[in-house]
Amino acid sequence: MAGDFGLRRRPWRGAFAGLLLAAALAACGRGPAPEAGIDPRDAAQVALGEHLYAVHCASCHGAELEGQPDWRRRLPNGRLPAPPHDASGHTWHHSNTELFIVTRDGMVPPYAPEGYESDMPGYAGSLSDDEIRAVIAFIQSTWPDEIWAVRRQMQEQAARR
Ligand code: HEC
Repeated sequence: MAGDFGLRRRPWRGAFAGLLLAAALAACGRGPAPEAGIDPRDAAQVALGEHLYAVHCASCHGAELEGQPDWRRRLPNGRLPAPPHDASGHTWHHSNTELFIVTRDGMVPPYAPEGYESDMPGYAGSLSDDEIRAVIAFIQSTWPDEIWAVRRQMQEQAARR
């Protein structure tokens, strides 16, 4: 079924590129975006996020944010394992909007193709918006300066498009 996987993969990649633009457009005009206020330098927010991460995320994404073993290889059921959230993964490629909405809603359109099957749960029912912001702030607080430098460049490029 390798062909199937290929078909599933491509729209998902394209969706991310399109979304950066959609997110940039959404950011103009409306009130504060839900992800506004994610601050990895805010010690209280990061401490709350560290606790929530251990309770809600570590079972899949790893106690040290290392992800599941062999996380790039699909499981026998065709789903992807949980990627690391540390510098070795690709979480840091995604904008705050993407991180917030994927954590809140799971892998659903527009961040994944319609009908995309994933083990990533949505946390809308179990975490408040503030708690979701805190978990993301904690994850981001572990990223080294080099990652932030590249991340800023990626975001500036996305904003110019
Ligand atoms: C039951 C396992 C499981 C739990 C628990 C879980 N995740 Fe995930 N998560 C996944 C999987 C699997 C993926 C990859 C989804 C895919 O690409 O199909 C993922 C992907 C993600 C992504 C997007 C991909 C990326 O680049 O990082 C984010 C963000 C994320 N998870 C955040 C969280 C947060 C925050 C928590 C805790 C509040 C959490 N996850 C809990 C399994 C899980």
